[in-house]
Amino acid sequence: MNDSLNSLIPKSSFTGLESVAHLATGGESPMLRSHLASMQQFMLDKSLGEPGRELQAAVMESARQQCATLFKVPAQDLTFLSSATEGINVVCYGLDWQRGDNVVVADVEFPSDILPWTKLRDLGVEIRIVKHNQWIIDEQEILAQVDHRTKVVALSQVSMFTGQHMDIPLLSREIRSAGALFLLDATHAAGVVPVDASLADIMVSSCYKWLLGTHGTAVFYWNRERLSSLSPPFIGWASVASSGGWQSPLEFSLHESADRFLAANPSYVSLYILDNALKHILELGENTIHAHSLALGKILWQGLDAMGLEMMTPEPEHRRAGNTCYMVAEVEALRAALEKRGVLVWGAYGRFGRVRVSAHVQNDIEDVDRFLGAMEDWLKFNR
Ligand SMILES: Cc1ncc(COP(=O)(O)O)c(C=O)c1O
Repeated sequence: MNDSLNSLIPKSSFTGLESVAHLATGGESPMLRSHLASMQQFMLDKSLGEPGRELQAAVMESARQQCATLFKVPAQDLTFLSSATEGINVVCYGLDWQRGDNVVVADVEFPSDILPWTKLRDLGVEIRIVKHNQWIIDEQEILAQVDHRTKVVALSQVSMFTGQHMDIPLLSREIRSAGALFLLDATHAAGVVPVDASLADIMVSSCYKWLLGTHGTAVFYWNRERLSSLSPPFIGWASVASSGGWQSPLEFSLHESADRFLAANPSYVSLYILDNALKHILELGENTIHAHSLALGKILWQGLDAMGLEMMTPEPEHRRAGNTCYMVAEVEALRAALEKRGVLVWGAYGRFGRVRVSAHVQNDIEDVDRFLGAMEDWLKFNR
């Protein structure tokens, strides 16, 4: 059998995968069993007083270094906020907006990539929405919306809704040459396809999907050279390198690093888990994981297409990542039927008729065949 069709991490290394085909990483990845030891280590360290805090800080540094390798940017330009959504809001509230500025987003984006900008409408900032055409967002249509008043273009590398993988080098080059900032949401890319954060001015990524971590921490990259003017909207003890203490309580200097955007303690327990997850991701290597997900995705795509379903994800490899998305009339009913057969997919946006099947390190050809078989059976009675 082609090696890329076997699991890259055995199912026995995860909790809860004994009897299911878990194809739902785009929503929530399964948990590595070794995370139990990471959580236990956090608890042991937490009880040690100040030396324990130093141990927690060391784990955060380790996770930061690993993120620097994964995202190909200097470690000091990365920090950990509570969510990708928080990071997008930091940009929204940290830039100096003028009446007549505009933000460009796409209609099939995750709500957190769109909604924060609505708060700027009272200041006279326009939100320009690029519409999909048969589920595809054309990069040229995005660029056509960018003009000299565009302050930010906010986009996902991989769409959570359609699975489309955008041409990030092209977008980065053109957005920058137009004088706008590029905010990249790598949530559906990081951990499954290569991500070069240096192509963005800000990059955010959740950690509980393809990075195999959990909630409570998200990666935030600040391109310091291009965006030194970004001002932290929240400031607290963790944002400052020094402060005047009780003698001069109003004196402080912000961290030179991206930690200026971290106002308070991060979620250390989430960072213990992330640090462990990143070891697995980096050990396998982004190219191996990418090839594996594309290979399984190709079989998923072709199998679903052969059933006559409306495919949302484009077929060409350079346009896909880990998600394969398609439309059905009854998403919730389908999801429930698949669950009965031990197949997990994601349909949280069921109200829009979309099903998302995700192929990641735990998956193999048996999962894919099991899903396609269950799908075929369901369609016999639910056309
Ligand atoms: C593209 C994208 N960004 C962000 C998020 C959510 O991230 P968080 O909860 O860390 O804000 C999701 C969740 O599905 C997503 O699809």
